[in-house]
Amino acid sequence: MSVDLEKILRPVDTPLPKFPAKYMTLANGQEMVVRQAERDEIPDILPHVEPLIHVERDFYNIVAARLYSELLAYYTYRVQDEYVLVAQIDGELAAIVNGRSVSPDVGMSYHTFSLRRGLRVGAHAFATKMEYHIDILKQKEVLIVAESGIGFRRWMIEYNLEKRFHIPHELGGCPSWSLTKELFDKARNTLVVGRRPVPEHLLAKAKAGILPPSDPPKGPEDLLAATRSMLDSTATSLIEMRRKQGGKIQ
Ligand SMILES: CC(C)(COP(=O)(O)OP(=O)(O)OC[C@H]1O[C@@H](n2cnc3c(N)ncnc32)[C@H](O)[C@@H]1OP(=O)(O)O)[C@@H](O)C(=O)NCCC(=O)NCCS
Repeated sequence: MSVDLEKILRPVDTPLPKFPAKYMTLANGQEMVVRQAERDEIPDILPHVEPLIHVERDFYNIVAARLYSELLAYYTYRVQDEYVLVAQIDGELAAIVNGRSVSPDVGMSYHTFSLRRGLRVGAHAFATKMEYHIDILKQKEVLIVAESGIGFRRWMIEYNLEKRFHIPHELGGCPSWSLTKELFDKARNTLVVGRRPVPEHLLAKAKAGILPPSDPPKGPEDLLAATRSMLDSTATSLIEMRRKQGGKIQ
């Protein structure tokens, strides 16, 4: 009985081509591998997303909450045609990107989540996910939204995305923007980096396991600056945030 119900609840995924892993050299000289995360690796990723649900800075909280649910939906077969890519530096989780195939022509970008700041790892991971949609899935456009100012600068401005405001995006029904194949082609020589094949030792290290990020984003350290930026003169919301993090942030 329960097995039959599970069959009804579980959408049947369309077989999609796998993302061929690639690697790139970051500004600090480190090599970053981007590869497809298998469904059974999701439990290794979730613990690194969960703490950021309580970090308000740069909208990590809403993005972490939504991403957590999307990863869980993927793991438990409660979303159709989702994929997840992970970026790793020396095995450490550096960024997560995910999305979904809506139709043979249209992709839906879900989230880009950087766990290592200041190296454009999020920007590189986003470009890689667009490459997956346009070059591997051969889609004509990808629908995108931004939840943060940094995201808006990185995607809408840097790629000069086109408005598709008549199409509600799956993320909260917000008006969509579109990266078309033509826009992606224009960005190829500047924003899209990386090489293939990934050297054996780099790929083996990445596949050996998803290691915790050594320097993940944290909440603000300066209480005064933080309360000012949050228009929270009593610091109530900041104190609440720190309480929830269980003292993980000093
Ligand atoms: C948006 C995002 C993926 C971009 O990742 P990224 O390309 O690796 O860029 P970073 O976040 O490290 O840096 C963005 C900018 O903030 C600056 N910055 C902010 N905090 C920083 C920190 N702690 N250390 C270093 N730089 C920092 C960087 O210098 C950079 O400036 P630039 O745009 O002039 O280059 C990432 O900021 C992120 O995950 N944000 C939270 C979730 C989110 O908003 N996702 C996108 C949803 S639309």
